[in-house]
Amino acid sequence: MAVERIVDTSVHDEGDVDEQQIEVTLRPQSFADYIGQDRLKRNLKLAIDAAKQRDEPIDHVLLYGPPGLGKTTMATVIANEMGKSIRITAGPAIERAGDLASILTNLADGDVLFIDEIHRLSRTVEEVLYSAMEDFKLDIVIGKGPAARSVRLDLPKFTVIGATTRTGALAAPLRDRFGLIHRLEFYTAAEISQIVTRAANILDSKIHHESAELLSTRARLTPRIANRLLKRVRDYADVNGDGIIDTATTKKALALLEIDELGLDTADRHLLTSIIDNYGNNPVGLNTIAALTGDEATTIEDFYEPYLLQLGFIERTPRGRRVTAKAYAHLGKSAPETT
Ligand SMILES: Nc1ncnc2c1ncn2[C@@H]1O[C@H](COP(=O)(O)OP(=O)(O)OP(=O)(O)O)[C@@H](O)[C@H]1O
Ligand SMILES: [Mg+2]
Repeated sequence: MAVERIVDTSVHDEGDVDEQQIEVTLRPQSFADYIGQDRLKRNLKLAIDAAKQRDEPIDHVLLYGPPGLGKTTMATVIANEMGKSIRITAGPAIERAGDLASILTNLADGDVLFIDEIHRLSRTVEEVLYSAMEDFKLDIVIGKGPAARSVRLDLPKFTVIGATTRTGALAAPLRDRFGLIHRLEFYTAAEISQIVTRAANILDSKIHHESAELLSTRARLTPRIANRLLKRVRDYADVNGDGIIDTATTKKALALLEIDELGLDTADRHLLTSIIDNYGNNPVGLNTIAALTGDEATTIEDFYEPYLLQLGFIERTPRGRRVTAKAYAHLGKSAPETT
């Protein structure tokens, strides 16, 4: 899709330096600042306390879930809570086994290696990684031809934190090397409202409580979108008012963005309407949906679908995705009799 969607859950990185900077400023640094995900925090705190007591690094952690829910943020929080450094990289950035070897040999004991999009590692790199994760050794081949020999290097005791939007795409042997595997859940509206209020404070912006609550219902239960909406509403309040974010300002700004009461934008509504108009409430395959909207199938799966599933607007069946009666009702259409 050519137009950048405000409710897109990915980071608007191309050309939006501002967005990246704001993400960094707003990023919680400790468990105390990290709102929500209580079950995850409880489990991690326990693992961290135990590791500290034994003076060992914590077990490798795999975090999965839809974009923008705080996986990268949690990785930095874990490193901070352990009092260790974090090295951040991503699956596609580690092209060769040698790239991984140089990253690993430069770590210190207890350091965190964060690998974003870990499902996109190449097979050869993946194999080197999981043996390194298992016994903190690295087998490398030096030289070529008959003179080649294999040497085994000792690595520091490090922790891998992997993040992925799709665990299904992770090879079983790699997945098995993670001692802690956790899914990040959508936030509650109350938590999003707290996140908005916290962010407004950091940005030194005055927001009425009702406005934070209103924003929390439009942000797809996702912190990244909540912060982005806040930024737009703040711009609107600065330009058209006295900078104070009250309900009237918030409503006007949201109307301008064409985001409805549930946080759906024109692209979501277009997706649902296209399915309904062409297939009614019959199951349709992911690729068919992608063809209808002109998006990649992975975009549909990662960005549109998680929230639509959460709302109960579509459901997954063995034969594809089905639009539910709830979605018909939201769009003001009457659902077919047979379901
Ligand atoms: N629990 C939280 N409390 C407050 N703010 C949060 C929380 N989680 C995330 N955020 C905010 O949302 C932004 C996006 O979070 P983050 O980059 O960690 O998401 P992500 O899950 O890594 O996304 P992606 O899958 O795109 O990499 C952060 O910059 C941070 O400001
Ligand atoms: Mg991330």
